[in-house]
Amino acid sequence: MIPVERPDGLRILRLQGLEDAAPYRASFAGAYQDIFSGPPYHERIHASEAMGFLDAFLRMPDHICLLALRGSRRVVGFGIGVPVSARPDIARELQGLVPVPHAFYLAELGVQEPWRGRGLGRQLTDLRLSLIDRQRFTQALLRTSASRKYSYAMYMGMGFDDMGVYMEVPARRIDGTVTTDRRLFLSRILSSGG
Ligand SMILES: CC(C)(COP(=O)(O)OP(=O)(O)OC[C@H]1O[C@@H](n2cnc3c(N)ncnc32)[C@H](O)[C@@H]1OP(=O)(O)O)[C@@H](O)C(=O)NCCC(=O)NCCS
Repeated sequence: MIPVERPDGLRILRLQGLEDAAPYRASFAGAYQDIFSGPPYHERIHASEAMGFLDAFLRMPDHICLLALRGSRRVVGFGIGVPVSARPDIARELQGLVPVPHAFYLAELGVQEPWRGRGLGRQLTDLRLSLIDRQRFTQALLRTSASRKYSYAMYMGMGFDDMGVYMEVPARRIDGTVTTDRRLFLSRILSSGG
């Protein structure tokens, strides 16, 4: 993918592998911590864990890892996707409901607060959808907060359907407790035409 230059000066770049990620790992971790410590997730994530997540995604086959950058290396947003088969935790929940070998999981999406409301979240989702190999994958899936207050409307507006399937996800919260929060799966059929 050729980097996308946005009119607001942000640039969207695709990382192909661990080597490309080196200049952005620390800034990715900062953005990840920042975004997921706010609503609706309130998660406490160490920088080393966030870098570990990025590395793990980049090691998965057929990953799509996009970063939105300000200047040369400041990460202000990200959109990551991998085949469902690379995520046994997700595959287990959806086995029998979707064709796992042909389903692609939009695993992570985040935009830092000051950059929200300018179409970046939607663009990071559209770009990932456009980069999925339609010969192999027939469905895109994702998990969002079951409260439906947050990104739900964005995904509904993008043609996703509510699967009515929920999952409790445990996480360490900013107050130090470990609790679960309820997530909801959404899906979208991928047409072979794009
Ligand atoms: C969800 C998130 C990525 C959206 O990023 P963004 O850059 O603000 O999204 P966009 O500007 O592309 O907005 C897309 C649409 O969704 C709507 N939308 C986005 N976030 C919304 C929210 N929190 N509440 C209500 N509507 C919202 C926008 O109004 C917009 O609608 P429009 O195109 O009809 O005007 C961002 O709010 C975020 O990082 N949130 C915290 C992490 C998170 O929830 N990630 C998603 C997990 S599945």
